[in-house]
Amino acid sequence: MVIFTVNKYKLTANLQAINHTNYDNATLLRYNFVKALQECRSQTLELLTQVNEESFCCQVHCDFSPVGWHFGHIAYAESLWLLEGCADENSLFPQYRRLFAADGLPKNQRIKLPSIENTRFYLDAVRERVLDCLEVADVEANARLWWFILQHECQHCETVAFILQLMQRNFQQLESKQFLIGCKLAEEVQFHASIADEMIKIPSGQFVMGSDSIDALDNEKPSHSLYLDSYLIDKYPVTCEQYNLFMAAGGYENPLWWSGTGWEWLQSAKVKAPLYWDAQLVDKNHPVCGVSWYEAEAYAKFLGKRLPTEAEWEKASSWDAEFNCSRIYPWGKTEPMEDFCNCNAAISQTTPIDTYHSGKSPYGMYDALGNVWEWTDSWFTAYPGFKYYPYKGYSQVYFDGQHRVLKGGSWATRSFTLRASFRNWYHPHVRQIFAGFRCAK
Ligand code: AVJ
Ligand code: FE
Repeated sequence: MVIFTVNKYKLTANLQAINHTNYDNATLLRYNFVKALQECRSQTLELLTQVNEESFCCQVHCDFSPVGWHFGHIAYAESLWLLEGCADENSLFPQYRRLFAADGLPKNQRIKLPSIENTRFYLDAVRERVLDCLEVADVEANARLWWFILQHECQHCETVAFILQLMQRNFQQLESKQFLIGCKLAEEVQFHASIADEMIKIPSGQFVMGSDSIDALDNEKPSHSLYLDSYLIDKYPVTCEQYNLFMAAGGYENPLWWSGTGWEWLQSAKVKAPLYWDAQLVDKNHPVCGVSWYEAEAYAKFLGKRLPTEAEWEKASSWDAEFNCSRIYPWGKTEPMEDFCNCNAAISQTTPIDTYHSGKSPYGMYDALGNVWEWTDSWFTAYPGFKYYPYKGYSQVYFDGQHRVLKGGSWATRSFTLRASFRNWYHPHVRQIFAGFRCAK
């Protein structure tokens, strides 16, 4: 029965297409995994074509490994969990262990990498064996691990996507010798009584947070019922136009809006605009992108608002009060695609916040999934009854009171990791990820 709780749009489609035959659950699950693995990998290889040998090995920021490392690590993790862990096979390419294991070398020593061609060979070789194993594996017993490894690949590809953007940005800055595109002054800003100011009232009451689905990651489980008082939440993510008012009003110079730690961070980071700030987007209702949690916190305070907790964000984006249940996606259970949100790197940039009408939640919240990740006020913590899976280092070591939760996914997030219950986490100072935010009150 596992198969019917996966809730993947494609699975339903497959079932409809081949239900005239007598395939059993295991066969259908096998078939579905192969399709998902291949779809995921074709996006990964597409990303790999955007990289040249030089950028492959280049460490652009000390917090992140070179892009090339991520591709090798994807192959390494697949070999470790699916071949060694699941199928009892020997490790393929044991010589890569030290280099590509998450706990191997420090990030700044990951610059001596195999060539792109050899990395591609590594990916292909592991995948070939995995597909062989899948023919005979007990897929129902191991379904959770298979979904995990698929989402592991997706997440590393998003990291590759923002590192590439970072590189491109550094390159452009070198070219133009201009480190900041100046923002407009408050008087110059032509403020279209922006729709982006609207807030939605969420009534008090219970909702169900998290997910017990087979593809849910360890930190999403177990789902649990939670009571929240009523609150207001922005209908849209904060736009560049709105954020520009904060900048033009001297937001980055005024300690009044910043918390103690936020101001301290600002003094050492010395920034004056979001990392991916593009003055051309100011009038176009794109969400602000490339802010740290501290900048989000300061902006909210400037407006007399605050950041939503992750529970508030999740309820507003997925709770269906009429049917008394949480939706997988704000719009229902149809898998994310271009009608509903900006994801899968299909557009390769942000989109205006009111683009996806059919993607809104039952409470009317827009742009919850895709476009930009949204910082929440919450620290990353375990849900009651948490059990790590498949290893402590995936989530548990990050329940350290040092990481803030982000929700919703960005334009670079793959559909396999895009859902209302998905939790991402980073240190509050990180601004390289494709992150914006919305406010609450
Ligand atoms: C959840 C995105 C913060 O990339 O560091 C990948 C995901 N964990 N391999 C990360 C992850 C192990 C993780 N994030
Ligand atoms: Fe990893």
